[in-house]
Amino acid sequence: MHVLVLGAAAGGGFPQWNCNCRLCLGLRRGDIEALPRTQSSIALSGDGERWLLCNASPDIRTQLAANPELHPKRVPRDSGIAGVLLVDGQIDHTTGLLSLREGCPFDVWCTPNVHQDLSGGFPLFSMLEHWQGGLTWRPIAIDDDHLEASFEVSACPDLTFTAVALSSNAPPYSPRRGAPTPGDNIGLLVEDRRHGTRLFYAPGLGELDDRVRDFLAQADCVLVDGTLWRDDELIHAGVGRATGRDMGHLALSGEHGLLRALTVLPATTRRVLIHINNTNPILDERSEERATLTAAGIEVAFDGMRLTV
Ligand code: MLT
Ligand code: MN
Ligand code: ZN
Repeated sequence: MHVLVLGAAAGGGFPQWNCNCRLCLGLRRGDIEALPRTQSSIALSGDGERWLLCNASPDIRTQLAANPELHPKRVPRDSGIAGVLLVDGQIDHTTGLLSLREGCPFDVWCTPNVHQDLSGGFPLFSMLEHWQGGLTWRPIAIDDDHLEASFEVSACPDLTFTAVALSSNAPPYSPRRGAPTPGDNIGLLVEDRRHGTRLFYAPGLGELDDRVRDFLAQADCVLVDGTLWRDDELIHAGVGRATGRDMGHLALSGEHGLLRALTVLPATTRRVLIHINNTNPILDERSEERATLTAAGIEVAFDGMRLTV
């Protein structure tokens, strides 16, 4: 399968428009070695022609322009995007749907929780009905017992999708903020049946339980939450009061951090971090933290990165 990284940064992007943290300032001034990054989104395809957009970022217009695979090619109004999947209802993962309105109707795969938030607090589903029928909801029905759901996406007939409920958080505008229920955040195991290869994609991962460890272990490539290096990073950088735990993002460092879980994966597993917050020192290519990742064989996604799994 083909994976296009459209945007590798967390909400706000890098640099963030109103941020004077060391890294945002350093990037603007050219004082650090780092790449700018747009907000979190990838596209997946089995055939390299029809793409499933996984998360629709506010930066989608720039992202589409930068990736020829997604350009119109066949008829006067066209796109490489054949469907959309949302792993949560966060602003950085959904706002791009507004910019796709000219191409409606779109099939949109998401859980009932996300559909509810996008029909209530941020009513994209109801608003976009006024554009050629808008968004056709394709439910991802997470089973309460197994906390998983398997489904197919017609545009990607060679791929099988399994969604797994993750412990993270619901969006700030959601009635379930601070008390998320299964379906507010999912990870995706995507299997290419022709090649028997698997990708695990989870840009918002709040906790590592046995189920998540099992999904990580099954994948040939993991593309996972690199939001924060340390849990109190926003406080430490003087830009916020929330911890990673509050936001539903497990920090990379520390005894129970994501880094440790990635280092125990089989040597053949490709490990890539995505959804990186602008305060995270791994963005600085000369930082100690980045050197730690490199030594552990862990990559940092960047806009335009292409993965073949
Ligand atoms: C998150 O990943 O926690 C959110 O996208 C943060 C935000 O609202 O920007
Ligand atoms: Mn986010
Ligand atoms: Zn910043």
